[in-house]
Amino acid sequence: MSLANKKIILGVTGGIAAYKAAELCRLLVKAGAEVRVVMTAAAQQFVAPLTFQALSGKPVLASLWEAASGDGMEHIHLSRDADLLLVAPASADFLARLVHGRADDLLSTLCLARTCTLAVAPAMNREMWAAAPTQRNLAQLRADGVQLLGPAVGEQACGETGLGRMLEPAEVVAALPGLLGAGLLAGKRVLITAGPTFEAIDPVRGLTNRSSGKMGYAVAQAAREAGAEVCLVSGPTCLAVPAGVRRIDVQSAAEMRDAVLRELPSDVFIAVAAVADYRVDAAAPQKIKKSDAGLTLNLVANPDILAEVAALPNAPFCVGFAAETERLAEHAEAKRRRKHLPLLVGNLAQDTLGQDTAELVLFDDRGAHPLPRADKLTQARHLIRHLASFLN
Ligand code: CTP
Repeated sequence: MSLANKKIILGVTGGIAAYKAAELCRLLVKAGAEVRVVMTAAAQQFVAPLTFQALSGKPVLASLWEAASGDGMEHIHLSRDADLLLVAPASADFLARLVHGRADDLLSTLCLARTCTLAVAPAMNREMWAAAPTQRNLAQLRADGVQLLGPAVGEQACGETGLGRMLEPAEVVAALPGLLGAGLLAGKRVLITAGPTFEAIDPVRGLTNRSSGKMGYAVAQAAREAGAEVCLVSGPTCLAVPAGVRRIDVQSAAEMRDAVLRELPSDVFIAVAAVADYRVDAAAPQKIKKSDAGLTLNLVANPDILAEVAALPNAPFCVGFAAETERLAEHAEAKRRRKHLPLLVGNLAQDTLGQDTAELVLFDDRGAHPLPRADKLTQARHLIRHLASFLN
């Protein structure tokens, strides 16, 4: 696939693999991308900026202090315009600086100020790669939603052989279209539910569950990145609303249902919320006082929002989530059929609840599609690409 008109910032950090970045730059331009190269000071010890200027056809940016735009906000403008920030090679030092959110040169500042996907292609000696601090940093970067490309196993500049070599430029280029989901849902309205619901018992108590809302918010961000107009109906969470997403706050399942029905029609409905199956029949208007006699709550069933939307005559493309604690495939597939869903995302609740990473399986008419364990935003992007294939 071509990268036509994609705006890519290619960050080059200091390592011998910087020579591969020259070939990478050439391949990106050949694939149609508009490439701006940003080099760290160390990178310039390995390859001259002029090489990248010639290959990209644009001046190389290297300093936070030589602002090219009138207002001196080059780091903000550059990162706002970009579809992708790709750091290749990414040295061990640069990964460590990313983890800490450093902003003491142009490239690290761009990474911090970005709104687009950040992908890094690490390159380092195998011992540096295997070192505990590097591995800790990688785990944090994955959790932060940074996309890791490679490294590969092979002969290294230091004469050793092992894991740490930068992917070949062609391999890096081949991985990019998958990261650039942009435009896949352009012009589509996507309605998403997220988080837990809260069912009042009395004015100070209620029934809720352990959903953090992280998955639903990640799905909202991924749908927005793919160009959709996104409305997120959210139960109580402490998460920030993703950029460009409209959020409607609700408490109970009944409020969530009403908000969803009001927001229809939409092209896609993704029910990620952990909706309480039951509510207290009549919540007490005043605080319930304790008594030795115990307390019995009368629970009544809540409406099934997803089933109701999926049964509408002009139903959107409906996606359900199923958190199971055992026999995932069997329960998830049964749920998908019962609610008449074209697509259902299954996970084992104990592996996912409150975690930053998730292991998901997509179930559709074609069968089960397991996704590799990754941070929730990466999983959400996979889901959006998968569902977009049904729409287009
Ligand atoms: N859902 C919903 N409204 C409800 C309950 C669930 O929209 N009242 C949606 C969830 O957002 C999720 C899917 O339905 O997408 C999950 O269904 P779930 O409640 O787990 O299924 P149940 O049929 O209630 O099965 P279980 O017995 O496992 O609770």
